[in-house]
Amino acid sequence: MNKPEKFGIDNITAKDMDDEKLVTYPTEAFLSKEYLEAEKKLLWPRVWQMVERETDLPNPGDWMTYNVAEESVIVLRKDDGTLKAFHNVCPHRGRQLIDVPDMLPGKVHDVRGNNRKNFICGFHGWTYDLDGNNTFILDPQDWKGYLNPENTCLSEVKVDTWGGYIYINMDPDCVPLKEWMGRAGEILDHFEVEKMRYKWRQWAIYPCNWKVAIEAFLEPYHVAGTHTQLLAYGDYYALSKQYGLHSVSSYDTREEKFKMSESAGTTRAGKGDDARVSTYELIRENYETVNFAASTETLVNAASRLVDELPEDTPPAEIIAHWMASAKKDDAARGVIWPEVPPEIMQESGLAWGLFPNQNILHGVTFALCYRVRPYGDDPDKCIFESYALERFPEGEEPETEWVYAEPTGENWGSVLAQDFSNMEFVQKGMKSSGFRGPLPNPHQEQKVINLHRNLANFMDGRGAPSLLEEE
Ligand code: FES
Ligand SMILES: [Fe+2]
Repeated sequence: MNKPEKFGIDNITAKDMDDEKLVTYPTEAFLSKEYLEAEKKLLWPRVWQMVERETDLPNPGDWMTYNVAEESVIVLRKDDGTLKAFHNVCPHRGRQLIDVPDMLPGKVHDVRGNNRKNFICGFHGWTYDLDGNNTFILDPQDWKGYLNPENTCLSEVKVDTWGGYIYINMDPDCVPLKEWMGRAGEILDHFEVEKMRYKWRQWAIYPCNWKVAIEAFLEPYHVAGTHTQLLAYGDYYALSKQYGLHSVSSYDTREEKFKMSESAGTTRAGKGDDARVSTYELIRENYETVNFAASTETLVNAASRLVDELPEDTPPAEIIAHWMASAKKDDAARGVIWPEVPPEIMQESGLAWGLFPNQNILHGVTFALCYRVRPYGDDPDKCIFESYALERFPEGEEPETEWVYAEPTGENWGSVLAQDFSNMEFVQKGMKSSGFRGPLPNPHQEQKVINLHRNLANFMDGRGAPSLLEEE
């Protein structure tokens, strides 16, 4: 039996993961209504969650709601430029202060607005200022002196920012966001995600549990089986590693000549005899089939010139170095200055980060392809799936975007995401089979998935905890 890490739970440890011990975990986290119900109490009110990009609330009085499970939070920008967050509920008799209808395809993603001066409850008119103080109660004398500022103000929610994201945490005793992000946050800070802007953002209601959805994007082990067309230009042997709450995946390789610091992420050399050609084909194929994300126009164009600018026998490491230098120059000429990421950070940063509990960020020096998932209603078989692309744009050339509902088709999301969608629904169905013996995650390549369940179990009083498989 394993040493419990937290809360006296029988769970695997971080060391078990570093040792790549073989584990399994039960399917209740994906399938059980009771588990979904327990998430409402044990998970969502206790974790830091990304609300939105900071640039969506640029001005004093800008506000929006963030909704997860049965919780609704109002986040707003105050006159002094700081952010404030409150539970979206009136302390009188519990009406939502801001009406938040269920998310509705094509209609409601979230509720937001500008120029907010106060909140007036629609039921009996109690009123609150932007600090959450109660400023009006009709007939307060009827409470015979019981009402005071403390029991009539809005309930505050912790709010902070990281990487240009607004985060909230409903737990008043939570650790600071910086501590929550830990080493993952420190590494990603080098990529200056806060300077990236939305390129596009889409959402869908998808028929699988939110964990099945995020897991479809956590590991590159599925590339060979799901995105077979990508194998023409690159190998997809992956590694993955836990970083406490969060975890990273990276391309690994059995071939020594392809080992180089610059090739850890999407900007890596292609395979085959002429890496100038395959590097271009690999990045172009990725870019065009992932809805013009996970790379940039600049990188693709610079890669297209490799065959003209370099001799045929250039080693892969030099091809990458040349490609990066010329793309960096092209970007600088149009006003996009790359962050200086030290080589050892580039190496450690890998391909993509799973940020506990419900985000995945595939990052590059000038772009990021990101995912967020949330439960939908009381149905463990449904989720709200969101994906968006960020990019560094020249100042003033950032596109105007908003959340667009997009049915999960190749037309809307690109053929690669459509291939991912084609698995998710049937993973949800397949795991219900009485013939399923339980997951057998790859301890080297799918550690991000295992780490999600390890951390979930720590919040969920041990429910769904992974356990070690007996090894011969
Ligand atoms: S519930 Fe808000 S004023 Fe009565
Ligand atoms: Fe995929």
